[in-house]
Amino acid sequence: MPSFPNGISSEGQKSGGGKLAQGDHKAQQALARRQWILEQRKSLPIASVERRIVDEVRKNETLIIVGETGSGKTTQLPQFLYNAGFCKDGKVIGITQPRRVAAVTVAKRVAEECNVELGQKVGYSIRFEDVTSSSTRIKYMTDGLLLREALLDPYLSRYNVIIVDEAHERTVHTDVLLGLLKNVQFARSRSTIKQHNFDNANANKYVVSDKEDKTQSFSTLRACQGAKLTSLKLIIMSASLDARGFSEYLGGAKAVHIQGRQHPVDILYTYQPEPDYIDATLITIFQIHLEEGPGDILAFLTGQEEIEAVERLVHERGHQLPEGSQQIITVPIYSSLPSEQQMNAFKPVPYGFRKVILATNIAETSVTIPGIKYVIDPGLVKARSYNPVTGMESLIIIPTSKAQALQRSGRAGREGPGKCFRLYPESEFGKLVDSTVPEIKRCNLSNVVLQLKALGVDDIIGFDFMEKPSRMAIVKSLEQLLLLGALTDDYKLSDPIGCQMARLPLDPMYSKALILAGEFKCMEEMLIVVAMLSVESIFYFPREKMEEAKAARKRFSSPEGDHISLVNVYRASAECLEKSREATSKEKTIEKALNKWCRENFINYRSLRHARDVHSQIQGHVQQMGLSLSSCGDDMLQFRRCLTTSFFLNAALKQPDGSYRAMSSSQTVQIHPSSVLFRTRPECIIFNELVRTNQNYVRNLTRVDPLWLPELAPQYYAAEN
Ligand code: CDP
Ligand code: MG
Repeated sequence: MPSFPNGISSEGQKSGGGKLAQGDHKAQQALARRQWILEQRKSLPIASVERRIVDEVRKNETLIIVGETGSGKTTQLPQFLYNAGFCKDGKVIGITQPRRVAAVTVAKRVAEECNVELGQKVGYSIRFEDVTSSSTRIKYMTDGLLLREALLDPYLSRYNVIIVDEAHERTVHTDVLLGLLKNVQFARSRSTIKQHNFDNANANKYVVSDKEDKTQSFSTLRACQGAKLTSLKLIIMSASLDARGFSEYLGGAKAVHIQGRQHPVDILYTYQPEPDYIDATLITIFQIHLEEGPGDILAFLTGQEEIEAVERLVHERGHQLPEGSQQIITVPIYSSLPSEQQMNAFKPVPYGFRKVILATNIAETSVTIPGIKYVIDPGLVKARSYNPVTGMESLIIIPTSKAQALQRSGRAGREGPGKCFRLYPESEFGKLVDSTVPEIKRCNLSNVVLQLKALGVDDIIGFDFMEKPSRMAIVKSLEQLLLLGALTDDYKLSDPIGCQMARLPLDPMYSKALILAGEFKCMEEMLIVVAMLSVESIFYFPREKMEEAKAARKRFSSPEGDHISLVNVYRASAECLEKSREATSKEKTIEKALNKWCRENFINYRSLRHARDVHSQIQGHVQQMGLSLSSCGDDMLQFRRCLTTSFFLNAALKQPDGSYRAMSSSQTVQIHPSSVLFRTRPECIIFNELVRTNQNYVRNLTRVDPLWLPELAPQYYAAEN
């Protein structure tokens, strides 16, 4: 198998033609794979500096580790520390990732390297999925999840070491987490000294102040009282070479650099800007396939919809390849892909095939996929963008930064010389910004503020952020939370609404919708909607079958709008599942039937599966909170009124010229063509999402009565406001 360096895996052998006799086949395969993994680990750049790194971790409370993607930071460092005895007292090493996919795939890999069952010594925990046990010592998780854990355990007392991985990505969760960990680390070092003379009377309002006399109060310290607190080791890992910012922020923490091994990568640019980057990507895939030597291709796209469109197009054109040519297999990888499907990107493909990985920016540094020799980079990325004046957040597609472009091309030179095809002219590269603006400066901060409030941080503006978000953005989100009833008039977390909202792992408006759904007796419907809205796209419209797809969608369409249409889809899929369950108990057959139903109805099976998982998880939270699981049946009036009461900030009114005006921002917006209300254009709508392309589009809409606004949200729409 010349083209797949990890072809020694069991899958590779099976499909490679099965040279061994069946009997001892399995044992030999397992042995070979173990040996191969061992050798691979030994050859990683980080392996030669194990001793030094462990020493540095012992000597320093906070350490920054910088190393190129693929040098072994994420998979190896936790194992080094485990072997060096950092978990001796039953404590855990926690490693945070900005992305779910990375947490899952890396945990699986490390469990395999340690030869243990996933969920035992090595496990992972992400929103809606916890694969850990009391014996877990190396725990991978998303940074958002660790923030939630801090709500229950403010001192993160079960961790001895916390590794913040991929810190260069500067996601909003990473930034908040860094601030929080700084405080926790300081408080723990103090509390180890003070443990014995802890003042019980003051336990509820323990004030930790650092040298600059910034104060943060941890209101729930009492919970940690009695728990033996040891000091907390903090390790920040980054793939970007510039560690200065982190070091300055972390009180001059020491940085260790791991020497990478990068092979040369040829960078190729286009002569002209490409008007259609999807088409350009497609052409480049086939050009590489027909003209270049063996090696897998990695193409960077901006999201699930795009990835799936390209997948379909590659399949279609793949059939037209000249007779006898090597075949192409596409594998998608993006954040919301169900975890067992994410793993496909790492599996070798059968002999005689070329693998084309279609990925979002997740494959820049978060996950290392072996075998890649060619990278296609259209130079774009989907990013959150926030306008603090209007208070509106939107998703936009923007050019990557220089740092991202370099990371992307670097993926081609991991195992040997490679090539990177940038789908823009060389002159454009110079115009890219050096590095991406931290997300905290370009997103709605309501969620962050709510979390910090729940953690007992009352002074948000004074919080020690690595980079402060604008004052205006903070004030806007405080206002928003006040309007949603999450904060009291003096900006404290309200009880029960604010506390309940902070407990749900959702955006504040969605949490509010669920809490209200209990009162409006439409919990069942709202749960479905929240789950369906948390996945990227439920419907798909293949170019070649547009009419059929539209007809299929009509079957689910509700004249009231997209939310109820989503409820219809979910219910129809549940009916399909129920029917097949009556016929068989075989889970595989049931799933197959659902898959078939999805194909017939042009529903995205992957998204629906994910939505079903999310649904059952949120339902668990809602039940735990004691909210009633009522249903409004066919009386959708209640449901629409509930939507209005929670999403009143996202209302828009039709203007005489047929466009819409968003009520809270006064922005002109258009109904997205994908909405079922695109043609009917009702007078007043509630929307969930703002997408900016050449226009401001709103998506996921429901028709509401404009008079409901002052009735249901008087705090915002009453005459005096
Ligand atoms: O974190 P860093 O980018 O430095 O490297 P890593 O994620 O620890 O990956 C080290 C090596 O492990 C990679 O070169 C991959 O070959 C391998 N790996 C893998 O085969 N499968 C995974 N799911 C993760 C890593
Ligand atoms: Mg890594």
